[in-house]
Amino acid sequence: MVGEFKPGLEGVPAALSSISYVDGREGILEYRGIRIEELAKYSTFLETAYLLIWGVLPTQEELAAFEHEIRYHRRIKYRIRDMMKCFPESGHPMDALQASAAALGLFYSRRDLQNPEYIRGAVVRLLAKIPTMVAAFQLIRKGNDPVSPRDDLDYSANFLYMLSEKEPDPLAARVFDICLTLHAEHTINASTFSAMVTASTLTDPYAVIASAVGTLGGPLHGGANEEVITMLEEIGSVENVPAYLEKCLQTKSKIMGFGHRVYKVKDPRATILQQLAEQLFEKFGRDEYYDIAIALEKAVEAELGHKGIHPNVDFYSGLVYRKLGIPTDLFTPIFAISRVAGWLAHWKEQLAENRIYRPTQIYTGQRNAPYIEIDKRTAADTEALIAAGAAS
Ligand code: ACO
Repeated sequence: MVGEFKPGLEGVPAALSSISYVDGREGILEYRGIRIEELAKYSTFLETAYLLIWGVLPTQEELAAFEHEIRYHRRIKYRIRDMMKCFPESGHPMDALQASAAALGLFYSRRDLQNPEYIRGAVVRLLAKIPTMVAAFQLIRKGNDPVSPRDDLDYSANFLYMLSEKEPDPLAARVFDICLTLHAEHTINASTFSAMVTASTLTDPYAVIASAVGTLGGPLHGGANEEVITMLEEIGSVENVPAYLEKCLQTKSKIMGFGHRVYKVKDPRATILQQLAEQLFEKFGRDEYYDIAIALEKAVEAELGHKGIHPNVDFYSGLVYRKLGIPTDLFTPIFAISRVAGWLAHWKEQLAENRIYRPTQIYTGQRNAPYIEIDKRTAADTEALIAAGAAS
């Protein structure tokens, strides 16, 4: 039976899941039933990752053991570092991350998906090594050798240290950790769906994460955080905001960092990220782009608010990362570092009751078409086929 076609699968349930909950009208996001505001205030990224993947908040001992395992597995193999040294420095760090995540499968590919120890090992390795790989590529492309992780630093402080070779300010490390918590999971978005489809074939978890990284990179998804900064750069000043918006409305181009398939109000993560940005500005100085961002939010609200177009998670995250001194093209890899937690939670949930994804399609092409021998084909035949919708 063929159902109604829904472009972008909008509103089509693709799974039963107890990992996260979004109410797009009220602006509510919960991980395993706990509001994101509570987690941002009281939890850490690793505790939140544990919650997402195992379904419950860990006890002190469980969290300590989990953190210890992750600390132990942070290093990456020399052969992976050497492989990354062969990547072009001009390549995008998301592509480097996708290739490196896939390469982990070469080293740890045993597919023992019924074995809880294998599952835990893969979870720990991916959470531990993805930040090290992002930081390694950053240093390699600058012509430096990657620095080793520091065992005395927590997850987020260690990542910022590996990136800049300097121990971060405690506020910077805490803010960064909250950013990771905020981006860790968001129901079945494009990259999570990609992870689930790949997981449903029972392939290894490194292939699952590599697929999801590839999907996250697009400008309509995680890649929008970079585009926001490019857009603020292009606007240049608060005075230019009305003209920029007018141009976007006239040319029907999307304003980056606004709009969401699910949220019809301001994304609750954007509200928290804006507060985090302000905390950083108070301590380290205001970002010149912040005033442009506020003016743009106000102008978009006036023009498009009635259509449910409001800031999404990507609108303010870039301003936070900029203040932390992170280069723009690392924003999306950082999103990936965090979202690995959600992807792994869905991978584990998918395995518990797996069925391979195999949707259907509504065929719009020709039937019983003749095979025209190559020497008899003409440009007119091809054009006729294109006109009939059989080729493009
Ligand atoms: N700027 C201007 N108009 C917009 C925007 C925007 N950012 N987003 C949606 N709209 C308008 C569309 O033009 C359309 O208007 P119409 O009905 O008059 O034609 C209507 O709102 C619906 O838009 P769609 O693109 O159909 O909505 P969809 O749910 O398919 O797309 C998406 C959601 C991709 C997030 C979209 O809002 C967008 O492209 N935003 C900009 C990119 C962005 O910020 N992406 C990050 C999303 S969050 C994340 O993935 C982590």
